[in-house]
Amino acid sequence: MPDTLTITDNRTGKQYEIPVKDGAIRAMDLRQIRTSPDDFGLMTYDPAFMNTASCRSRVTFIDGDKGILRYRGYPIEQLAEQSDYLETAYLILFGELPTEVEYQAWKRDITLHTMLHENIKKFMEGFNYDAHPMGIFLSTVGALSTFYPDAKDIGDEVSRRMQAVRLIAKVPTIAAYAFRHLMGRPYVYPDNDLSFSGNFLNMLFKMAEAKYEPSPVLARALDVLFILHADHEQNCSANAMRAIGSSHVDPYSALAGAAAALYGPLHGGANEAVLKMLHEIGHVANVPTFIEKVKHGEDRLMGFGHRVYKSYDPRARIIKKAADDVFAVTGRNPLLDIALELERIALEDEYFVSRKLYPNVDFYSGLIYQALGFPMEMFPVLFAIPRTSGWVAQWMEMLTDPEQKIARPRQIYVGYDIRTFVPRAKRG
Ligand code: ACO
Repeated sequence: MPDTLTITDNRTGKQYEIPVKDGAIRAMDLRQIRTSPDDFGLMTYDPAFMNTASCRSRVTFIDGDKGILRYRGYPIEQLAEQSDYLETAYLILFGELPTEVEYQAWKRDITLHTMLHENIKKFMEGFNYDAHPMGIFLSTVGALSTFYPDAKDIGDEVSRRMQAVRLIAKVPTIAAYAFRHLMGRPYVYPDNDLSFSGNFLNMLFKMAEAKYEPSPVLARALDVLFILHADHEQNCSANAMRAIGSSHVDPYSALAGAAAALYGPLHGGANEAVLKMLHEIGHVANVPTFIEKVKHGEDRLMGFGHRVYKSYDPRARIIKKAADDVFAVTGRNPLLDIALELERIALEDEYFVSRKLYPNVDFYSGLIYQALGFPMEMFPVLFAIPRTSGWVAQWMEMLTDPEQKIARPRQIYVGYDIRTFVPRAKRG
């Protein structure tokens, strides 16, 4: 029996057989359901894309009920344990784990593209002394578009790969310059002898020493955080990347838009909101009162809940372990006790249990970032560095998908019918 959905239109009495594939019907198949020849046809209404697949993707698989996250089929736990960020980025972008030769070539390519044009540096120096680093980050990524006009050739595979290398290599440098700008310190050039994460620490924290030596524990913890944040299928910023990229603009411009989406407190800004919340709670003894406020709708437990995960976010589990490693070097973040108590109470409370609200990746990431010495404003920037590989992978997939066109949703117009213009002098 064919896999179809039979729809009876009670207005006309007509029946329609709509094919079902991969658990979905094509919204365009509904267009044939009309009451008259001049009827536009049936649309679906889905604000916030709650139940709409916008693409077919091979990049990331999530089972929100089971708490599963895989990149190209590989469980996030295995990647966090055995891979490094650059290898994972290669996997996400090109679909397969690299061979040793491919990995070395990829690493070399990235290492050789970490420098920024001196005019980009000058551009960044122009920001106000207290400019938010995420504002600096997204503007600078957008500005890269003017330095690489060849990036407009989005139909050329070689050019696309070139931009992927440039973006992945340069975002840590932009992020570090934005941080140094905020701190009022001179920008530090990349050090090609160091690993991706080690060099990032160098560009962030090098002072007067001749050679910066990153802590291997902290570099590894940062790398794990990068792996965890590399992609997350069709989230708000990935959707922005695809939507903007669907106009065939260059990837730097599209990525600036994706980064802007990540800037919002409900997306990449959540870990900043978590720390503010922990500061406000102030002490473990105040946790029960705070939980009551959340249950009465007067507050929100930031770092809890997720549109897709309706069980423990697998990344939150891994991040808790990374937090222990970091605190062993930096000293324990005193806010951790409040976070642990919040989690303990929330996981037992009917309000959170019945709504399937569990800690997400951001519940603990802010604590780690703070222990590493980052101000809160840097948190979304730290998220954007690894997510760049996810954004670029989603963009490449979108461009090579023959079914994709410029993204342009429909609307249901609920405004006035036609009205006649009244000159200002005659308006009451
Ligand atoms: N605290 C308290 N109640 C919550 C929370 C929360 N963090 N999250 C959801 N709820 C409640 C809602 O009030 C709603 O209750 P109701 O049914 O009584 O009205 C119910 O749970 C369902 O929540 P929605 O808002 O419909 O869920 P949605 O999928 O739209 O939102 C979101 C997901 C935005 C992540 C939300 O859970 C939230 O705001 N969490 C806090 C912010 C956060 O941590 N964001 C990071 C997301 S992960 C990331 O971007 C990397």
